[in-house]
Amino acid sequence: MKTNARRTRTRARAFTLLEVLMVVIIIGLLAAFVVPNLWDVEGKQRTKLAQAAVDSGLSGTLDLYRAAMGRYPTTDEGLIALYQPPDDEYVKTILDQNIEGERCAISYYNDLMKKTKDTDIITYNMVLSILSQEVEHEEDLQALLEDLELMVQRR
Ligand SMILES: [Fe+2]
Repeated sequence: MKTNARRTRTRARAFTLLEVLMVVIIIGLLAAFVVPNLWDVEGKQRTKLAQAAVDSGLSGTLDLYRAAMGRYPTTDEGLIALYQPPDDEYVKTILDQNIEGERCAISYYNDLMKKTKDTDIITYNMVLSILSQEVEHEEDLQALLEDLELMVQRR
């Protein structure tokens, strides 16, 4: 009886090779599933951050770049191109022309609003909406021109 009780106690303290092997296999399986998921979470977070950056204003910056350059930056140029002064000496001229075009549109829609103010409320509201967009365009281009001048000064 004493020997059986001692044997049982001894068994309870030690792990068999099979138990150790099972634990190693379980840890291996967990690592195989969890580690790639952790890496994937990091990748997903980067994607979300990039998407948030695009949503929160980079798309506007890209549009302004396109307005100034006539195209988006290439993959080789990367997004850093948005923050570097352009080499093309006509960018400022094109920006000036676009700003002048927006001011011309603003002036035209202001006149049209005056003409339709008390006579045609539907046209008036449409023109009011378009006018606010034109003012926004002019402000965006003006801001881009100011950024361009700062970039050129720092060069
Ligand atoms: Fe416009």
